[in-house]
Amino acid sequence: MTGETTHNLRGDYSRMRPDYTVDQDWPAYTPQEHALWRRLYERQAALVPKYACREFIASLSALDFGAAIPRFDAVNPRLAAATRWQVVAVPGLLPDAVFFEHLANRRFPVTVWLRTPEEFDYIVEPDVFHDFFGHVPLLFDPVFADYLQAYGRGGLKADALGAIEMLSRLYWYTVEFGLIETSEGLKTYGAGILSSGGELPHCVESDEPNRIGFDLLRIMRTAYKIDSFQETYFAIRDFRELFEATAPDFTPHYAKLAGLESHAAGEVLSSNRVLHRGGNRQRPA
Ligand code: PHE
Ligand code: CO
Repeated sequence: MTGETTHNLRGDYSRMRPDYTVDQDWPAYTPQEHALWRRLYERQAALVPKYACREFIASLSALDFGAAIPRFDAVNPRLAAATRWQVVAVPGLLPDAVFFEHLANRRFPVTVWLRTPEEFDYIVEPDVFHDFFGHVPLLFDPVFADYLQAYGRGGLKADALGAIEMLSRLYWYTVEFGLIETSEGLKTYGAGILSSGGELPHCVESDEPNRIGFDLLRIMRTAYKIDSFQETYFAIRDFRELFEATAPDFTPHYAKLAGLESHAAGEVLSSNRVLHRGGNRQRPA
């Protein structure tokens, strides 16, 4: 999801170009894989109207890619026209610097392989369903699209400053697991939630997790869980808030945070704008 882990990778990295891109090789997908895609899509599309932010809902229905694994080449002209972004095919997770370089140039890396039917409910590594269904629709939103590019540029800088761990937390708690406060209640724009059958209702309805107002430094100081539902979600008010809060130079933030201990994933602080205080009971994802 974030490109921060590069061990035990599942994809075929033997045929990639120097920038880690590959051909999607769409004709190689099997009828069984297209059928699995349809099942995954149907489950998520049924949940989206209730739990996703309106930007995601609008984009998903306009794109209408539920019938088969989409051809990246088919979405790219539409994406180019909307926000000048492109989808590029990759074998799987990427080294940090490669991932940041793509984002900084408005290219979103999408994994080519699809999970197995046994992984219908849960998968740790991002596959084409997570990457495409979860991430691509929001690339059509102009403000979110600019945020993601700024994040990529910020990543290249964080790499040089030894601050990737702090910056990765921001990606995790926004791009992957972010919530958004709307006049219709809390919704989500996080791809890790949007592509998950269980976490989509859980993130806004469950009593277990904390839900806290977006706070940049607090997020960059907070650890996260990669193999269970999140213990804390952070909510923005809109993409403009996210873009503006992250626009200033992070160099002083990194310097300040470097000497401080991290907060645990489930911690609530007195300084937090608490929307919901969770019970933090552990449960498997
Ligand atoms: N403003 C950040 C920096 O100076 C870059 C950034 C923008 C990081 C948006 C994340 C998201 O490092
Ligand atoms: Co992701």
